[in-house]
Amino acid sequence: MKTRITEMFGIEHPIIQGGMHYVGFAELAAAVSNAGGLGIITGLTQKTPEDLANEIARCKEMTDKPFGVNVTFLPVVNAPDYPGIIKVIIDGGVKVVETAGNNPSEYLPALKEAGVKVIHKCTAVRHALKAQKIGCDAVSVDGFECGGHPGEDDIPNMILLPRAADELEIPFVSSGGMADARSLVASLAMGAEGMNMGTRFLATKEAPVHENVKQAILQATELDTRLVMRPLRNTERVLNNPAVEKILATEKAKGKDLEFGDIAEEVAGVYPRVMMEGDVECGAWSCGMVAGLINDIPSCDELISRIMADAEAMIRQRLSGML
Ligand SMILES: Cc1cc2nc3c(=O)[nH]c(=O)nc-3n(C[C@H](O)[C@H](O)[C@H](O)COP(=O)(O)O)c2cc1C
Repeated sequence: MKTRITEMFGIEHPIIQGGMHYVGFAELAAAVSNAGGLGIITGLTQKTPEDLANEIARCKEMTDKPFGVNVTFLPVVNAPDYPGIIKVIIDGGVKVVETAGNNPSEYLPALKEAGVKVIHKCTAVRHALKAQKIGCDAVSVDGFECGGHPGEDDIPNMILLPRAADELEIPFVSSGGMADARSLVASLAMGAEGMNMGTRFLATKEAPVHENVKQAILQATELDTRLVMRPLRNTERVLNNPAVEKILATEKAKGKDLEFGDIAEEVAGVYPRVMMEGDVECGAWSCGMVAGLINDIPSCDELISRIMADAEAMIRQRLSGML
């Protein structure tokens, strides 16, 4: 399958693995890229730019295919060393950056000059248009279904993707709720030129996370995610558990007076405990509604090959057979 996305990133299949905190290590990025997709290392999971440089070098040892680095601009107390992060990405010869969370314009000149393609992940058409205007090469359009931060507009992909197609000139991929060939073919029908997946890649053999995390996703249905931090306008879709219920109760009790400190215990710094130690109930961690469509733990190669084979059959047989 050839789209503007496969051409732009030099990949075989139009499938991207979105950055995921404490999941997007070199092992997963390399596995996705070796399977013909675009794997992405999560920049901020590495504590320093030097650590990120090492992670990029490790990934290069595991794959000779293109891979990217996610740079997330989120409200954080102490801002990470973004200039240092951008420098090691360029010096490491990485050719794709996935930006998210906020406007990346400050870093675009340096990335462009180094020939790095930038795909900006956003949750609203107006943000996608802004990304196009400031010179991003592509966008990842992240619907309300997504695991992680869906923004505050709550527009599902059935509306968001065709809206993006109507407005954008640069290519875009669908993101949020994507799991299989049905997701890919539907995304293409709505104007996307590929798809980005997070939660689905979390439940793969190569995802370097504790088995408890993968089992929690397998057991979850589409009814099992919740939105936390909405009162702080930093909404996150997470897998429900007792800690998440505690957050929601606190949010309800505090109302407008909620402050981050009120829920920090269940939100701040929980990722290493969840992903590494497998303590999946210690706090809130991102998970998409798409958990309801995930019933196995394939390798990245099995997953991507299956999606592409099923998509081809669906287009050639099921769809064209209807005409
Ligand atoms: C566990 C987890 C951690 C995530 N961490 C990040 C992150 O650090 N930065 C980011 O831009 N997106 C992050 N995301 C969002 C994904 O990159 C992707 O956009 C999202 O998962 C797509 O929705 P889906 O889960 O329905 O596929 C995370 C998602 C998950 C499930």
